[in-house]
Amino acid sequence: MNENIQFLRAFLKNPGKVGAIAPSSPELAQTMVNGLEPDRDNIILELGVGTGAITKFIEPILPDSDSYLGLELDPKLHLTLRHHYPDLRILQGNACEAYKIHQDSGLGKVRYLVCCLPFVSLPGNVADQIYKQIDMFMDDGCDLRIFQYAHGYYLPPALKLRERMRNLYGKSKRSKIVLKNVPPAYTLTWSTI
Ligand SMILES: C[S@@+](CC[C@H](N)C(=O)[O-])C[C@H]1O[C@@H](n2cnc3c(N)ncnc32)[C@H](O)[C@@H]1O
Repeated sequence: MNENIQFLRAFLKNPGKVGAIAPSSPELAQTMVNGLEPDRDNIILELGVGTGAITKFIEPILPDSDSYLGLELDPKLHLTLRHHYPDLRILQGNACEAYKIHQDSGLGKVRYLVCCLPFVSLPGNVADQIYKQIDMFMDDGCDLRIFQYAHGYYLPPALKLRERMRNLYGKSKRSKIVLKNVPPAYTLTWSTI
């Protein structure tokens, strides 16, 4: 099945959890991976892999398959990911348990947290659980990179997320707006390293 259609189906079934009508564009995906230099001691953990729109741009910068771990909640999307990325470790799992899942994986330190989760549409209690997981990775020293859609940039959940991260980790680095994405988006990076 076409990836866009599969993504749209997942959205229609679970709009709050998927949070977007289309996968990230190549332009947004490229912006999400700019500057990342993973290796097996400094891995990328991708939360909310979807159909792999960003993974497609992560794969070429990985020196080996031990430099990456992906988590996707939706079992159907996960099945497709396993088919498209047989060499990558992409688990069907919940970002609310990301820290333990990473510990159990035996992989190296998470240096880059590439977070594609729809915080604006997730229930507040779920977002709070995921924030706590992010905090644990940030305490160990890492870069957190997210994207936020321009149309929702000043909605309360988006503002709350940025305020929370700013209070804990200082000012973010924001990319230029990525217009070639539906909808246009910014990427934001906080670093504790
Ligand atoms: C906005 S989509 C991003 C997908 C893809 N990374 C992209 O940029 O096109 C968010 C993805 O996060 C997944 N997701 C939502 N909640 C999750 C959770 N608690 N743990 C893991 N994945 C989750 C959804 O199923 C969906 O595939």
